[in-house]
Amino acid sequence: MTAHTPSRLVAHPSRLKTDNPPQLPGDKSISHRALICAGLATGTSRIHGLLEAHDVIATAGAVSALGAPCRKLENGTWQVNGHGAWQTPNQNLNLANSGTGARLLLGALAGQKLSATVCGDDSLSARPMKRVITPLAKMGAELHARQDEYLPVHIKGRRRLAPIDWRMRQASAQVKSAIMLAALAAPGETRITEPRPSRDHSERILPLFGADIAVSEPAEGEESAGRMICVRGECELRGAEVWVPADPSAAAFVVVAHLLAGEGDLTLRGVGVNPHRVGLFTCLREMGAEIEFTPANKNGAASGGEPVADILVRPFARAPEGVRVDARRAPAMIDEYPVLAVVAAAARGVTRLEGLAELRHKESDRFAAILRLAGAAGADAAREDGDAIEVRGCGGPPAGGGCIDAGGDHRIAMSALVLGLGCRRAVEVSGAEWIATSFPDFVGTFSALGARIEATD
Ligand code: S3P
Repeated sequence: MTAHTPSRLVAHPSRLKTDNPPQLPGDKSISHRALICAGLATGTSRIHGLLEAHDVIATAGAVSALGAPCRKLENGTWQVNGHGAWQTPNQNLNLANSGTGARLLLGALAGQKLSATVCGDDSLSARPMKRVITPLAKMGAELHARQDEYLPVHIKGRRRLAPIDWRMRQASAQVKSAIMLAALAAPGETRITEPRPSRDHSERILPLFGADIAVSEPAEGEESAGRMICVRGECELRGAEVWVPADPSAAAFVVVAHLLAGEGDLTLRGVGVNPHRVGLFTCLREMGAEIEFTPANKNGAASGGEPVADILVRPFARAPEGVRVDARRAPAMIDEYPVLAVVAAAARGVTRLEGLAELRHKESDRFAAILRLAGAAGADAAREDGDAIEVRGCGGPPAGGGCIDAGGDHRIAMSALVLGLGCRRAVEVSGAEWIATSFPDFVGTFSALGARIEATD
């Protein structure tokens, strides 16, 4: 099913070509949501372009264990047979490495008359869960977490929950989506207000299955009031057909590698360009990159209302410029800071990344990992100050040469390999096997582009 990724890889300085433009993997966030929504619905759903990576396969396993079998058809499409209600599973639901899988599933389980235990790997078991436990308990589900915060979480759901009016303290699509999924089982209207807009895949995909969702954007000048999502509960979800676009967070690695080490124009086809996901591309343009989006929606409403584009990227003509990235952009590029740090290491001047506190709670402490990455690149200085990081770039290809431990984090492993491709000396990565959680064919994709990435095991 998924390509095997060796645990030690070395990325050598390379010139990337454009003759084999890659077909990028499906969007991870949308893949999790499609499986969970399809599992909750009555009838058959078909999902085209599902990401077949460890994390998503774990979600498919959990949904199947709850009585909605998910299986891959011969043509590559995934089919989910939902019955409108889940049953108590006879095993723990193991969501592997995925915060999205665990948090969204807890939201969906809250509105089911059953008991289940949600668990995950060591990294997921160290990530905070109170942020979803508190609102779900307020809606009427019973949840017991290890030390009141961590997986495993034992949940006892209810067929009927109470609607809530929830104001989130920080933007989080996972928390928002968990409440939205629980709200499907609450009569009347559940309202969620987020301080800054986060990715809105749940708002876009749920109506495909028949859910009643309304979104009110704040009036101009009143952004601090936040964006409100209203879910009208107790409507029956029906099976649907979903096309998953290519993942902009996977495209990010190819785009950055091409900017730093490519030759000619590269076009990446059918990439999701949801406005709440493309913050990295905005930053890269501010740093001097030429990146163009050409709309490419083929399936109209059927693609879940997600905007899709072909992305054209041209290598940097000169060293990128350091920029200041405001904290308000964080939700739109929350997973892309490590790979942006790679560009910052090659930039002229200082790149200042602000509002990074949440990065400490990702698959690893990505705040610390960014400092490791910039240091391994040989960037003059990577200084932290509160929840900001400043990287003084090398004004050209960084020295490289070191070894970076991915710390159990797929995005740190991939960022470090991209760094190696654009440095003057090779960069070695340990813990590269974690790449399989989100981008199983990363090495194959980059090799087809002419990258020299080799196993050293
Ligand atoms: C995700 C939301 C983000 C992101 C994660 C995927 C989602 O997390 O980091 O990789 O699919 O909803 P937060 O919602 O915790 O910021």
